[in-house]
Amino acid sequence: MSSTTTHVCLTASVENEATTMHTPTLRPVSKLPDVGTNIFTVIGQLTYQHQAINLSQGAPNFPCDPKLVELTAEAMRAGHNQYAPMAGVLSLREALAHKVETLYGHTYHSGDEVTITASASEGLYASISALVHAGDEVIYFEPSFDSYAPIVRLQGAKPVPLKLTQPDFRIDWDELRDTINPKTRMIIINTPHNPSSQILDAADLDRLAELTRDTDIIVLSDEVYEHIVFDGNKHHGVASHPELAQRSIMVSSFGKSFHVTGWRIGYCLAPAALTEEIRKVHQFMMFSADTPMQHALATYMQDPSTYLGLSDLYQQKRDLLVSLLQDSPFELLPCAGSFFLLAKFGHFSSLSDSDFVQRMIRDYRVSAIPLSAFYTDGTDNRIVRFSFSKDEATLRAAAEALCSMKG
Ligand SMILES: Cc1ncc(COP(=O)(O)O)c(C=O)c1O
Repeated sequence: MSSTTTHVCLTASVENEATTMHTPTLRPVSKLPDVGTNIFTVIGQLTYQHQAINLSQGAPNFPCDPKLVELTAEAMRAGHNQYAPMAGVLSLREALAHKVETLYGHTYHSGDEVTITASASEGLYASISALVHAGDEVIYFEPSFDSYAPIVRLQGAKPVPLKLTQPDFRIDWDELRDTINPKTRMIIINTPHNPSSQILDAADLDRLAELTRDTDIIVLSDEVYEHIVFDGNKHHGVASHPELAQRSIMVSSFGKSFHVTGWRIGYCLAPAALTEEIRKVHQFMMFSADTPMQHALATYMQDPSTYLGLSDLYQQKRDLLVSLLQDSPFELLPCAGSFFLLAKFGHFSSLSDSDFVQRMIRDYRVSAIPLSAFYTDGTDNRIVRFSFSKDEATLRAAAEALCSMKG
């Protein structure tokens, strides 16, 4: 029988002939043979090794509001330490439904349309695995967050990456129209976008609604940076588009909004029929998300300034980094949302973006992520991604080193 049909391959390890013991080594047939340690881990290790300033990771290096920590401790002291309800703590689901209705206009019923997940990552996984079947196609846009394609592949489905246009990282709607076919089960969008930091506008959503009208395509909308939109622009997500909201799942994350990426709490908002399927996966994957944090977040969110102030906070950081890098050799690309800034270097270095980042870490002690890491085909436009979710001292120190860079 072949290893493919048995799904494991047992090989005998006989390195030492003197020992007659044959130790069988279990070699599973990988479902993701080409996936190795991800780029964030590799760059993280290099950053640590060279004691570089970390502008690679999308995690804040400043603390969350102490009040949030205190509310969590209070919830723990009050005994909220056992399993939360599978769908999430009701007060948090109600707070979310209220927030989304107020900000975006769509009413999600807290009972059967709001689910608290153990991070946005889990929300993405639960949504895709609940709704995408083997043989289906899922369209998404590159450069992209790294989890979409592997999750699709794990369902036996086909990820179909379309490239965002250069230089402005927009969706090519005509290409999308030409790519949609009867096998298309899902389209994944992400706004504000990681890594390009571009945002969709109302006309984009209209176009998406038009292209999916009269189909059974589900839209999975990754909106983890929903509260980080700059220059007075509004966030346009699926909950602000009545037609799209009927066929969409909005996934978001408390980690990004409240500077607690380690807490692993996110949420999925979707019409009841979609939510029912998503919860079937969620209940067997995590059953529920952490209890005390959910209670704390529900109370904390009662004050809308906790999330409405985020755009200002990050816009100041963006503006600071952009102004500090004016004297650097980089060409900075426009940044409309999220906490990432793209920078071109091809005019002063002929290195590949990966080699360039390694050199930056080694010689200038600043880390970033090469943009090619966000493409399945490794497209290299000689661009790096900096994260500005950092305190002022870190941004200043990093910019000083980057300004001294030579080709
Ligand atoms: C676009 C995007 N989606 C999802 C996630 C995952 O969010 P979480 O940390 O809540 O799993 C991230 C995290 O970096 C992200 O950038």
